[in-house]
Amino acid sequence: MTQTKHVKGIYSLFNARWYDPFRTVWGSIVSKKAEKDFLTNLKKEIKPQTRILELGCGSGINIGRLQHTLFKQYTALDFSEEMLDRAKKHYTKIPNLILKHQDITRVDHLHYDIIISTWVLSHLEKPADIINKWYSQLAPGGSIYLIFLTKPKWYINLWFYPFA
Ligand SMILES: C[S@@+](CC[C@H](N)C(=O)[O-])C[C@H]1O[C@@H](n2cnc3c(N)ncnc32)[C@H](O)[C@@H]1O
Repeated sequence: MTQTKHVKGIYSLFNARWYDPFRTVWGSIVSKKAEKDFLTNLKKEIKPQTRILELGCGSGINIGRLQHTLFKQYTALDFSEEMLDRAKKHYTKIPNLILKHQDITRVDHLHYDIIISTWVLSHLEKPADIINKWYSQLAPGGSIYLIFLTKPKWYINLWFYPFA
């Protein structure tokens, strides 16, 4: 099975209904401080003219966190229909939000002011190459905000074992 099929398979399980409860536990046990710092710094940088791109938005936790912040445009991409459906269910009414089905390893012309991607890199086959590609396509003076696990793959697999 290819990496892409495997990842899509995980997020299609039970129509991705497992993800939000899992994310709450993960966020409070594994990454509480990282998530807090991420959000604090991100909010400081977002201005009404900021164009945001989220890569691997999943069910839209970051959209929810920024829904009351003023921005120019928020484009959120994911290749899991099930995860996107969950995001659409909650957040379609946000003005200037575009939710799009797309493989984030194949994106080009990313002229955004801020790119964010949380808990996605471990799913990519060559994360460093992909980050360099995203970075080279940022708007001048733009920023990238990433949250990812620096622990070994077995640690991640342990968490995902019940779904594998
Ligand atoms: C662990 S979830 C993170 C979701 C969200 N960023 C969060 O913090 O809750 C990983 C997401 O990345 C998406 N993803 C993984 N590889 C992808 C790819 N190549 N293209 C698009 N989305 C991808 C998955 O479909 C899934 O929704």
